[in-house]
Amino acid sequence: MSAVDIDARIPNNVGLVDDRRLQRALESWQPKFIEWWKELGPVAFQGNDVYLRTAVDVGQEGWANFGHVKMPEYRWGIFLADPEPDRTIAFGDHQGDAAWQEVPGEYRSDLRRLLVVQGDTEPASVEQQRALCLTAPSVYDLRNLFQVNVEEGRHLWAMVYLLHRYFGRDGRDEADEMLERHSGDVDHPRILGAFNEPTPDWLSFFFFTYFTDRDGKFQLASLRESAFDPLSRTCDFMLKEEAHHMFVGATGIGRVVQRTVELMKEHDTADVAEHGGVDVAMLQRYLNFHFSVSLDLFGAETSTNAANYFAAGLKGRFQEERRDDDHRLRDVTRDVPTVADGAITTREATALAALNETLRDDYVVDCQKGVDRWNRTLAEVGLELRLPHGGFNRAVGTFRDHHIAPDGRLVDDATWSAGHGSWLPTAADRAHVESLMVGVTEPGRMAGWVAPPATGIHAKPVDYDYVRI
Ligand SMILES: [Fe+2]
Ligand SMILES: [Fe+2]
Repeated sequence: MSAVDIDARIPNNVGLVDDRRLQRALESWQPKFIEWWKELGPVAFQGNDVYLRTAVDVGQEGWANFGHVKMPEYRWGIFLADPEPDRTIAFGDHQGDAAWQEVPGEYRSDLRRLLVVQGDTEPASVEQQRALCLTAPSVYDLRNLFQVNVEEGRHLWAMVYLLHRYFGRDGRDEADEMLERHSGDVDHPRILGAFNEPTPDWLSFFFFTYFTDRDGKFQLASLRESAFDPLSRTCDFMLKEEAHHMFVGATGIGRVVQRTVELMKEHDTADVAEHGGVDVAMLQRYLNFHFSVSLDLFGAETSTNAANYFAAGLKGRFQEERRDDDHRLRDVTRDVPTVADGAITTREATALAALNETLRDDYVVDCQKGVDRWNRTLAEVGLELRLPHGGFNRAVGTFRDHHIAPDGRLVDDATWSAGHGSWLPTAADRAHVESLMVGVTEPGRMAGWVAPPATGIHAKPVDYDYVRI
């Protein structure tokens, strides 16, 4: 284990100073990253002081410090969680063997692919969100956006370190390509489809951080189980930061819901749009959209790749070690959804092939928790939000060729076309939400469509100057 070198050009706890070649390679990638940040990071406020959390250590206490910093001067570093002594592989065909400190030749290309796909999403989300700083509903929210953005930048650093350190020339090329693909670029798009759509407004941002960052949580949690120990330790630390991103989403939607309820009571109507709010039906349509596109990120119900990754020990299940089974799954089966004879039903699959579905199931359970919290507020006006059926609006897997209503009915084309506008955000919804987007730059003030947060960041008051404007 290496000590934290916080004053190095690249802050790190991976002993960069002892590996000059690697250090030089990463130091030559660093200016390209900064250039990318300035060009495709937030479109404004790059010269303003922002109250940001910076990772400085990996200990149980005090792993980060808080202070005002200009974003291009943010200290992006490389941090791996402390190693677990004598760690063994918890699952798959190599179960019980010592965890790998180097990449086994036979898994090199699979591991590289996993790192590249995960790494690509990190800068992609920064690119998707780059215009949101112009319309933040408060200075507090503006700061949270930037916190998410700089940490996604650090997550890119995390994957780029592994590529440089363990994958030689190929890894360095992949690291360069991370900055050459861009969200929505026709010629060089980001790898996953969902990461090529801009995040157009703050309501979408809150739903994105709730649902899509949560996909990130589950991907990182299953990579944390990896037999490749440096990957496991990297993901472990990334998950600490990721928790705040989902907090931004969960509390963001919670505050919109709260404001909607206030407006409903104040004006005695469910139609709060004309009073500058977002009505519950519209919230439901946004929720339906973001939940369904996030479900697609887990892949098809059955997958040979997923089975191979597990058997090889590259990617485990969510909380692998807490599961009460043999962790090899050679003789286990489970049901996965399918559509047959005009009905939604199930078919049997091997548990190994169905690992995407298993991770998706765990994800849905986690998603429901926030919905339950929002519904406690909505109960005051007798309404609720619901996660739509898993088959709704899917573009990946067994449901992609079928129309499923949010309530789980398999419907024909005509019913789908008729229902579409009440199930997914319409052009009118988007226009209304856009009309609510105003940049609020006075500390403590909130845009009219969202309630203030219960508390500020890091024990600061809500009206603190989180961004000095
Ligand atoms: Fe991330
Ligand atoms: Fe995130």
